[in-house]
Amino acid sequence: MNVTVFGTGYVGLVTGTCLAEMGNTVVCVDVDANKIARLEAGEIPIYEPGLEDLVHANHAAGRLRFTIEAAPAIAHGDIVFIAVGTPPDEDGSADLTHVLAVARTIGRHLGGYTIVVNKSTVPVGTADRVREAISAELAARGETIEFDVVSNPEFLKEGDAVNDCMRPDRIIIGSDSARAVARLRDLYAPFNRNHERIVPMDVRSAELTKYAANAMLATKISFMNEMANIAERVGADIELVRHGIGSDPRIGYHFIYPGAGYGGSCFPKDVQALDRIADAHGYEARLLRSVEAVNHAQKSRLFELIRDHFAGDLAGRTIGVWGLAFKPNTDDMREAPSRRLLQQLWDAGARVRAYDPEARAEARHVFGERADLVVCDEAYAVLDGADALAIVTEWKAFRSPDFKRIAASLARPTIFDGRNMYEPRTVEGAGIAYYGIGRGRSV
Ligand code: UGA
Repeated sequence: MNVTVFGTGYVGLVTGTCLAEMGNTVVCVDVDANKIARLEAGEIPIYEPGLEDLVHANHAAGRLRFTIEAAPAIAHGDIVFIAVGTPPDEDGSADLTHVLAVARTIGRHLGGYTIVVNKSTVPVGTADRVREAISAELAARGETIEFDVVSNPEFLKEGDAVNDCMRPDRIIIGSDSARAVARLRDLYAPFNRNHERIVPMDVRSAELTKYAANAMLATKISFMNEMANIAERVGADIELVRHGIGSDPRIGYHFIYPGAGYGGSCFPKDVQALDRIADAHGYEARLLRSVEAVNHAQKSRLFELIRDHFAGDLAGRTIGVWGLAFKPNTDDMREAPSRRLLQQLWDAGARVRAYDPEARAEARHVFGERADLVVCDEAYAVLDGADALAIVTEWKAFRSPDFKRIAASLARPTIFDGRNMYEPRTVEGAGIAYYGIGRGRSV
């Protein structure tokens, strides 16, 4: 099939590439000419395992092209995906400027029956607004061309996006048009193997499904962080509690890891946006607000542990930090807990030496040149002249470090483990003081 994808961010680029890999001819459109030029030259703007090879192979095979020219791209696509950003505006609602701009562009250039698919995470009711925007442009042209608008939200996880796209656990198709559903079933047939993954539903349910999924996951995390905070105070170990509850299949082991708070471009934004959607419809989403509030507080937890350990005296101290990305296998630092930690350390007069396997360039970009930050190119280099070490992202490379080397390098051998990566006894056995999240040790 001929497919067009608007937006070459995580969602658009991964979706377009995976659709090309399945034999479709895909044109990806973006307004950022520089990004498109780089993509055409084979340069991938994001770090995403497996993506680069797929882009190169499909580009070389002529199934994947990148352009800033919207008109020919719309003429090309029987199915046109909208996968542009929906950043939060000042009050946390999703900003639909980009989505609606694409809708108007589609309306201006539509030539024949087309299925317009919303992949971006958008408030309930957006498909109607996309339809209206396209219709208004068609009316202005005096044209009556048929089209359908479908909600087909994505569930990609950064760092595992190619895998999620190639082997989706569900394919939500929100539409009231049998013709559109049938075409999308054909498009997704190669991804829909072994068992039925397609869940057809109405448009609004599809739009809400996306928010409900992310809000549920964020709720699990905030719940566990709250339990961790209780565990700390009552002298219990949240890691044992986690095992204890996860064995109940109704609860499960997934996504119940306490830590330094959830970050990234999705959970914080989507929980807030869903709260605003509920509010706009006259419902106060008390649980969602608590999920947000717990997460906000949790992002300060590592700093509090460090501050208390040093009895509030951090001026002139140096803290080594492992992990800057909001989670492993990505260079993304959007809403990353590391940002809060570093800022709090600087505000308290401390210096930071930090390392991340992939996010070093991003960190230099985010923080700029500052005297109180050294971004190191090697993990153990953060220890030089440091008093203590904090773990903010659970990269595999940090799983079994050389504790003896850490003990010998730190002035005040202490590990603040924001992801509970280590067994306290192992760390302490190497002569290092240990603090985790919810491990009954901080009070
Ligand atoms: C999330 C969802 O998992 C995807 O299904 C969804 O498609 C995507 O948002 C989206 O809306 O586009 P992502 O933001 O890439 O994906 O990251 P996750 O792997 O879900 O992690 C989010 C945050 O939760 C990270 O900061 C992570 O460290 C934290 N987390 C995760 C925990 O603190 N504990 C856990 O047990 C799991």
